[in-house]
Amino acid sequence: MFDVITFGSATWDIFIRDNDLSFVIGGKTGKEVCFPLGSKIDVDEIRFFSGGGGTNTATTFAKQGLKTAYCGAVGNDLAGESIIKDLKRVGVNTSLIQKVSKKPTNHSLILSIPNQDRTIFSYKGASNLVSFKNINLSAKYFYLSPLSKSFEYLVNYAWKRGIKVAVNMGQSQLNLPKKKLEKILSKTNILILNKEESSLLSGIPYEKEEEIFNYISNFYSGIFVMTKGSKGLLAFDGKRKYKCGILKSKVVDRTGAGDSFAAGFVSEYIISGDILKAIQFGSANATSCLTKWGAKNGIINRNDEYRKIKIQML
Ligand SMILES: Nc1ncnc2c1ncn2[C@@H]1O[C@H](COP(=O)(O)OP(=O)(O)OP(=O)(O)O)[C@@H](O)[C@H]1O
Ligand SMILES: [Mg+2]
Repeated sequence: MFDVITFGSATWDIFIRDNDLSFVIGGKTGKEVCFPLGSKIDVDEIRFFSGGGGTNTATTFAKQGLKTAYCGAVGNDLAGESIIKDLKRVGVNTSLIQKVSKKPTNHSLILSIPNQDRTIFSYKGASNLVSFKNINLSAKYFYLSPLSKSFEYLVNYAWKRGIKVAVNMGQSQLNLPKKKLEKILSKTNILILNKEESSLLSGIPYEKEEEIFNYISNFYSGIFVMTKGSKGLLAFDGKRKYKCGILKSKVVDRTGAGDSFAAGFVSEYIISGDILKAIQFGSANATSCLTKWGAKNGIINRNDEYRKIKIQML
């Protein structure tokens, strides 16, 4: 039996960074990247790493010494092989990974303009073809990162077998009808959402932070954490509300910060059952992630110095 099985995407992330890339003010989002059509552009830097919510979080769990498996699909290609190799290197069990031939491995192309922001081109391929039917999933905890399918199936599977469930939902789950979603969530134990996702789940406008948080805390019976990026987080464990800041650091690349926080929080909670320690470790893991390129390179282990920096309770 595994301590944790993680579910969600496995991607191959390609980072391109160029000082000459520019943006224009205007367009749909206020700022838009622009480059000449039909030209060839030299770029300053390129890096590639494995990513995706399912594999990023599996890496955090395994690095804390938990017996961890990732269950998801990759393509029958080089990217898929490289992802599996990365997971094996940190001790994640890969026996539940499915190799599919119909679509290539998920890819993300992350285009960064230094000191500005990044734009992500995202190809969702093999991850969507995963099938959970007829496989035996034996674990103490399921960790569900954004999944495009089978969210309800996995929660019910776990519920019937007494497996605890931690969830970090994405758009496709949040678009399910509200009552249905609340029913599914009643069978889970830990819910971690950013503020935007919390606003979607509650149906309350983004600006009404307290209202959003109170709404979800009221209906959700497990531990709820609402993350707010560089503004920290709010958490509720059924009895007490926690409000915390962040551990400050230089930001090199913010890919994977959300996964690092959530898996860091859940892993520490599984190990110690202490919500304050879980907040502390999730924040430390996210901070460290921000200081490195890629979603996995900053993930810390149980002895890292970041764990010792105490987070400020507000
Ligand atoms: N700039 C930052 N500096 C320090 N800590 C940060 C920063 N951004 C995020 N964090 C930490 O990571 C946690 C999760 O971040 P965030 O709310 O951005 O998650 P997210 O929106 O799910 O991220 P992602 O886009 O990676 O899914 C925050 O609560 C905070 O503890
Ligand atoms: Mg997130």
